[in-house]
Amino acid sequence: MARVLIRGGRLLDPAAGRDEAADLLLQDGRVAAVGRGMEAQGAEQVDASGCWVMPGFVDLHAHLREPGQEYKEDIASGGRAAVAGGFTSVACMANTAPVNDDPAVTDYILDRARQDSPARIYPIAAATKGLRGEVMSEMSALVDAGAVAFSDDGKTIMDSGVQRRVLEYSRLVERPVMVHAEDCGLVRGGVVNEGAVSTRLGLPGNPAVAEVVHVARDLMLAELTGAHLHVAHVSTAGAVELLREARARGVHVTAEVTPHHLALSDEAALGYDANTKMAPPLRSAADVAACQQGLADGVLDAIATDHAPHAVHEKEVEFTAAPPGVIGFETALAVVLELVRAGRLTPLQLAAALSSNPARILQLEAGRLARGDPGDVTLVDPERRWRYDPAKGHSKSRNSPWAGREFTGRVVVTLVAGELVFHADRGVLHP
Ligand code: DOR
Repeated sequence: MARVLIRGGRLLDPAAGRDEAADLLLQDGRVAAVGRGMEAQGAEQVDASGCWVMPGFVDLHAHLREPGQEYKEDIASGGRAAVAGGFTSVACMANTAPVNDDPAVTDYILDRARQDSPARIYPIAAATKGLRGEVMSEMSALVDAGAVAFSDDGKTIMDSGVQRRVLEYSRLVERPVMVHAEDCGLVRGGVVNEGAVSTRLGLPGNPAVAEVVHVARDLMLAELTGAHLHVAHVSTAGAVELLREARARGVHVTAEVTPHHLALSDEAALGYDANTKMAPPLRSAADVAACQQGLADGVLDAIATDHAPHAVHEKEVEFTAAPPGVIGFETALAVVLELVRAGRLTPLQLAAALSSNPARILQLEAGRLARGDPGDVTLVDPERRWRYDPAKGHSKSRNSPWAGREFTGRVVVTLVAGELVFHADRGVLHP
């Protein structure tokens, strides 16, 4: 197998607390050595000067749409978009068609991934059959097939008794339950954050409290059961506060936040662009600030894209009719880098939120760069300027709120298992 020497970069390895100039030698798919001034005869050289050398990013939360909705995305296109955004490991949600509530579906996803995806793919299985929130899925059979977590994402399990059982059983298989916390009775058709913006737009509002009440319930159930609760796409100051208190009490809870909830407020929806519609919706500026603070404090562990592709014809309709969700792999790093530039996060904190923390949550062997670790590496040039054009991206879909946006900082090289799979000037290097 090829040897690759990544020279002259700034190594950011949050698991080891390392932020220093160092070279990295990859061999046989793994990290063979870390050190300064390394020479390696015959190795392929990657010049990392001016770049951050980070563990390959781990996305806890994406929608790859295969099986069943391949016109939006499939495992091949999603995997290519992932590595183009620096994500070397991606966990994919269960709201496919059919739903991933059966080991045969989990198996199918893993099989497609082995053949088609340059990124490593980890299926998340449904917590309940058909995502109906009524009957639990067969958790241990799904874990045996390769599921890494359980989630009905896209839907909330409204029946608290079912949610309690899901959490109880998840303990037996020692896997997290990832919750989409939105109370349906409170959302009630709301499509943007309830407040001044929903009033100005004349659109039905989705109140912040719809998230907060469910996070409160699920934290209580996590405390009762001792299960590992993971709160997906946190969007409100109220949820951040509840998470902060629960962590202080020792509840086994982790949480993620998306780049869009960290960077955009509900005012981004003022032009009725359906590419600013997602569930949960973009919230107030105060909520955005609370999410940023929660990430800086470590109350929110991970940045997850919630990459949710939808076709152009589905999004180019009136706001209320469009499906919720935005794509996110290829812009995530550039969007969150602005928090580092603003002094709200250190580069090492950013690396932790994108790699070692999500890997820990899903118990993946990833997100670290010491000798013997997998050779999954992402190089970021924090000064490189570029303009994002979704039509030139690798996803099949274009539903991004960042179209046409100028960014400073981008992923320039991605390696998976010691193989170059993306280079900013050469594209995705995968058959
Ligand atoms: O905006 C969203 N889109 N939120 C979800 O929870 C589901 C997702 C989708 O599947 O499109």
